[in-house]
Amino acid sequence: MVTQQFVAAPARAALFLVMTVNEGSEEVVRDVFADLSSITRSVSFRVPGDQLNCVLGLGAGLWDRMFDLPRPRGLHPFVPLDGPRHSAPSTPGDLLLHVRAHHMDVCFELSRQVMDRLRGHAVVVDETHGFKYFDERDLLGFVDGTENPEGDAAPAAVLIADEDPDYAGGSYVIVQKYRHDLEAWGALPVEEQERAIGRSKLEDVEMPDAVKPINSHVHLNTVVDADGVQRQILRDNMPFGELGTAEFGTYFIGYAADPGVIEQMLRNMFLGSPPGNTDRILDFSTAHTGTLFFTPALDFLDDVPGPRAGASADDAPADTAPVAAAPGHSAPSDAKATDLGIGGLRAATH
Ligand code: HEM
Repeated sequence: MVTQQFVAAPARAALFLVMTVNEGSEEVVRDVFADLSSITRSVSFRVPGDQLNCVLGLGAGLWDRMFDLPRPRGLHPFVPLDGPRHSAPSTPGDLLLHVRAHHMDVCFELSRQVMDRLRGHAVVVDETHGFKYFDERDLLGFVDGTENPEGDAAPAAVLIADEDPDYAGGSYVIVQKYRHDLEAWGALPVEEQERAIGRSKLEDVEMPDAVKPINSHVHLNTVVDADGVQRQILRDNMPFGELGTAEFGTYFIGYAADPGVIEQMLRNMFLGSPPGNTDRILDFSTAHTGTLFFTPALDFLDDVPGPRAGASADDAPADTAPVAAAPGHSAPSDAKATDLGIGGLRAATH
């Protein structure tokens, strides 16, 4: 089983595209799924060493429209949260493209080639171009990403395994676009900012538990299971901004084998843990989007199952031949050795 490359070294540039897919355009999307590896490979081959990496996710609504298969267990629309002080909205999204590389031109080229195929069939509802900011800092000025799982812990945190064998090697991803009030944040003394995050600003050292406030971001995002084992997710947040409009933000993106872990973190942040004890960074950061996607194994995309039973060739737009005329589907191949050239991971077989 070859997976998409969820785990990657921090990139210098990232492009996030969230799209809705027009009714009747499902077959065009199915073709793009099947061709995504080769599109990625052809762009990547032109810029060896640029670490180009593209992950594609699909939302619950599009899954139901495209496949006559049970939904992956954790796939559902993003659950909005309405807390005492802060809200996390749920916003539309059928497709996510998460493209990372060392340079934006490479991200742009890959995204453009995919969009050329989808134009007229999908509407971009959010496009964010993110950049690396000095030593992996967000626009709040703190190093972001330090406590991500490393080594074997990273695939263990993100890859679906035996708990949902039909979709093993896939993952789930939640994205949220946050805008910061940098004027208010900048008015805080650095010591106060450090207490909001739970780490020092310059050296990025975590505060001892005895002094770390319980409404700090790090405290509320340290989630343990019933056995006291910490549950981890893989984040790859990127700063973005626009000077003319004074828009300063963080694009949050978190991968997990169980989206329930990310959802628990979000409840802690927005509703509070204990209730009412909400995340201090939300006093300076507002979530404007929120969407959950399933990111299938690469085998699933390369050998994409056919249309829903009952969907006919008439459902496809006139300019597109359906890839599978017969209803039904083929099971995702679990043994296909694909030469990715983009560094796909092999799923751990637990
Ligand atoms: C405004 C958006 C956000 C910003 C600016 C931000 C920034 C940070 C920073 C600076 C750290 C400390 C360094 C590190 O370990 O990465 C951190 C840690 C963390 N964040 Fe966020 N974050 C944001 C949103 C979120 C969201 C929405 C989640 C989860 C749903 C999340 C989950 C975590 C986790 C799990 C940690 C590591 C905690 C630990 O084990 O120490 N973050 N974040």
